[in-house]
Amino acid sequence: MINPEEIKSHFPIFNREIKGNRLVYLDSAATTQKPVEVVDAIVDYYYNSNSNVHRGIYTISEEATELYDASRENVSHFIGSKDSRQIVFVRNATEALNFLSYTLGRSLTEGDEILLSVMEHHSNIVPWQFLKEKGVRLKFVDIGSDGNLDLEDLKSKISKRTKIVSLTHVSNLLGTINPVKEIGRIAHENGSVFIVDGAQSVPHMPVDVEDIGCDFMAFSGHKMLGPSGIGVLYGKFDLLDSLHPFMGGGEMIREVSLEESTWNDTPLKFEAGTPNIEGAIGLSAAVDFLRGLGMENVRRHEMELVSYVLQKEIESGIKDLVSYGPREVQERGGVYSFNIGEIHPLDLNRKLSVESVETSAVHPHDVAADLDSYGLSIRSGHHCAMPLNNKLGIVASSRASFYIYNSREDVNALFDALKKVQKAFVR
Ligand SMILES: Cc1ncc(COP(=O)(O)O)c(C=O)c1O
Repeated sequence: MINPEEIKSHFPIFNREIKGNRLVYLDSAATTQKPVEVVDAIVDYYYNSNSNVHRGIYTISEEATELYDASRENVSHFIGSKDSRQIVFVRNATEALNFLSYTLGRSLTEGDEILLSVMEHHSNIVPWQFLKEKGVRLKFVDIGSDGNLDLEDLKSKISKRTKIVSLTHVSNLLGTINPVKEIGRIAHENGSVFIVDGAQSVPHMPVDVEDIGCDFMAFSGHKMLGPSGIGVLYGKFDLLDSLHPFMGGGEMIREVSLEESTWNDTPLKFEAGTPNIEGAIGLSAAVDFLRGLGMENVRRHEMELVSYVLQKEIESGIKDLVSYGPREVQERGGVYSFNIGEIHPLDLNRKLSVESVETSAVHPHDVAADLDSYGLSIRSGHHCAMPLNNKLGIVASSRASFYIYNSREDVNALFDALKKVQKAFVR
């Protein structure tokens, strides 16, 4: 069982006050707070073993190398990968997806297609758009009115031309959990490479890459208690091994002459230059922390919180409160995106002020700024999912996202503050 109060005691940041209030942090989908265990692991490395990896024949370099390699093993186990050579350390999920667009994109030709969805984060859209200059076409699976992916639409859009299917596991705006195992089966039956953006799933629920059967998965350390600047690309070994390096430089080579070079073994051939050693060590400590809690418990805790949020939403009586995503907690992760009165793109195109369009609408930036004055940190804006905003017919929303340190009291604080916001803004 998750006890948020006990968990909070591991996070020094919760000792501080924001404008005279306790910090209620509801932006973990953007980045999570860091427990002392993660910070200590990084400090310990710097104080005791700091040196470069895979090159020094001396004690502290060997220690650093051991720590770095052990982090890879640990991350590999955490996501159910059977071989740590399937783990490439990158900067973040964004870099992992750019890596795939570059490396897989090399063999794509005019007329090839890539299937994405309208609910993708920009990091799973923009890198693929780079390939349009080769004549590669992008197609997008639609969503239903319930915020779930439209599987019939997926089946109608996949074809022999579809070389890659790349989809998010959990939407960072809707919270929708996509049936990635089933989609992977469809993609593979079609002969497509299947990529999962695990940025919002790996931190929040048990994820087993072997069970899902995906070819690649991308995720970020900073969204799962780890430091920023470290992320993971998982790839099925043979497929990963067959790829051309993403970046060239030191560490990733076996031999270099002035004319040509040969590559180091996978995964080192994909980690050019000095890696983020402390980042990998910090991520490994984060993985230990999460494993200690149990990912089933993490998931259950978030489901309970979301269920409570949906109940509070009805009880709160906040006028014109609209929220997005599936209503069934089993079908969604720990994010709650909402608006107090919607502001539609058309209204802005007409250059009318919000007040003159819809008196009950409060801009999400005003919501977030006002909530901050009560100590609450939430996100507002398009959440790096502009196409999804367009699909929903909105310009922006506010988003509260939950994690292991959040409690029902935090949800109460959110709705109490939202009532005050509405009073302050809506006449
Ligand atoms: C679903 C999803 N994919 C990818 C990313 C990109 O993560 P990062 O900025 O750490 O690369 C995010 C970040 O919010 C996300 O929510």
